[in-house]
Amino acid sequence: MRAALLILLGLVIGVIGTSQVMNALAARNPMPGAVMHTMGYHMGELKQAMKTQKCDAATIQHHLLRLQSTATDILPTFGMSEKGFVDDANQLQTRLQQATVSAPATCAALATALKPVGETCKSCHDQYR
Ligand code: HEC
Repeated sequence: MRAALLILLGLVIGVIGTSQVMNALAARNPMPGAVMHTMGYHMGELKQAMKTQKCDAATIQHHLLRLQSTATDILPTFGMSEKGFVDDANQLQTRLQQATVSAPATCAALATALKPVGETCKSCHDQYR
């Protein structure tokens, strides 16, 4: 009984310790979250543009370029080498590049360009967030 209690105590301490380490790591390295928040901001601006039907080509291009360049920071800042994660990060870059090149000038074109991008955000979040 005593041994079982000690083992349980050890497990609890281990779990608390692990979560503290994770928190400390997250606090020390704000970059992964910062990269995601930056992409979230630019996606949010584009969604807002579609919602309010204010799809100005130059503004769209600005946000797409910011998304594209920010996406290149995912792999170096997250430091994840798992294949699924790396594949999604690379796919995001490819799809953002396609979206940028397509230079959407209407809300309909923007919606079409963003669809595959949003699918890649979701695919990685479903698995890794
Ligand atoms: C390769 C994987 C991957 C891709 C692709 C990806 N994300 Fe993320 N995202 C993550 C992970 C992992 C987290 C959780 C980060 C954390 O908790 O520090 C996250 C968290 C977030 C968050 C919440 C930030 C936070 O700190 O809680 C936002 C907003 C976000 N992502 C936006 C996006 C957008 C927008 C896209 C697409 C344009 C995208 N992400 C694509 C992996 C990805």
